[in-house]
Amino acid sequence: MKAVVLVGGFGTRLRPLTLTSPKQMLPVIDRTMLEHVIGGLARHGVDEVVLSLGYKEDVFREAYPNSECAGVRLTYAVEPEPLDTAGAVRFAAEAAGIDETFIVINGDVFTDLDVMSVWNRHHEIGAEATIALTPVDDPSRYGVVPTDPDGKVLGFVEKPPVGEAPTNWINAGTYVLEPSVLQRIEPGRKVSIERETFPAIVADGGLWAVQSEAYWVDAGTPETYIQVQLDLLDGVRGAAVDGVAADASIDPSAVIERSVIMSGAAVAANAVIRGSIVSMDAVIGKDTLIEGSILGPRAVVGAGAKLTELTMLGDSARVDDNASLAGAKIPENE
Ligand code: GDD
Ligand code: MG
Repeated sequence: MKAVVLVGGFGTRLRPLTLTSPKQMLPVIDRTMLEHVIGGLARHGVDEVVLSLGYKEDVFREAYPNSECAGVRLTYAVEPEPLDTAGAVRFAAEAAGIDETFIVINGDVFTDLDVMSVWNRHHEIGAEATIALTPVDDPSRYGVVPTDPDGKVLGFVEKPPVGEAPTNWINAGTYVLEPSVLQRIEPGRKVSIERETFPAIVADGGLWAVQSEAYWVDAGTPETYIQVQLDLLDGVRGAAVDGVAADASIDPSAVIERSVIMSGAAVAANAVIRGSIVSMDAVIGKDTLIEGSILGPRAVVGAGAKLTELTMLGDSARVDDNASLAGAKIPENE
């Protein structure tokens, strides 16, 4: 099974972390988001991935110079300009010479969904396109997908206003597509698969869906970027993972609760870290409090500082001694 993995977005909701790194190359405990995603695909039978690249494509190439990630062979398709989700799929599928049924995945989704079951159902039905659905509490930030009892899709509403979604089942960002879908996508311009292509296939009666209650989180916001990591620590997806890297240097008086401390990070005396992500080589001074916050690689927090309420520090950002930050983003967005 071949999969196109969409990784060309700007990751704006994760700024400032994504000012220096594409979203899917951000670290999640001990490897990149992309390695987690491709590792999951490999476990379910995907053996070739086409990376659909745009923003900061060089970061991917440098990280995987042998064109291999999580044991899967990679090909790179670099858009000359962002073509949006459907434009990107067409561009990548053509670049890789795909002419058979294939899979498309949003590159920021952490899931235990069995893609093979979606693949099999797609073939049973003889659908033109089949999408996986997952239930969520607030569908307004997703693609909302009502179906009939057999799974035939009745409509596709991308990001409806709060309270107006016809169902809580949303597009899980995993699709099985026939190559004929590519012909529906006008080349050379931005085309959204959610806003244009899927609604057109629905109108022709060719879009089907498979519901799944498997673990599913889109890691594309600060809250969910923390959540996917705490879920791994908490053992929500199997055996609990240790979030503190063996080579992190942590003063014995520091208190670390439900947090990720990545490789090379240093935590000084009496620091208290709760529900937070501390990326590679970050440095945390003594007597600090870091709560529900994210420190990018090489960030430096001065002694006595307090960081709370989803404060985010970008790569190498610095916080002065005794600063008190709640919900701050450093550097600020331009
Ligand atoms: N190559 C390329 N080019 N990739 C892109 C582009 C582009 O122009 N625009 C976005 N992407 C990539 C992003 O990097 C990401 O991996 C994926 O496409 C989806 O974009 P997001 O920005 O994460 O979309 P979303 O989370 O708001 O919504 C999408 O995902 C939801 C599920 O996670 C939609 O598909 C929703 O319908 C869906 O429910
Ligand atoms: Mg997303």
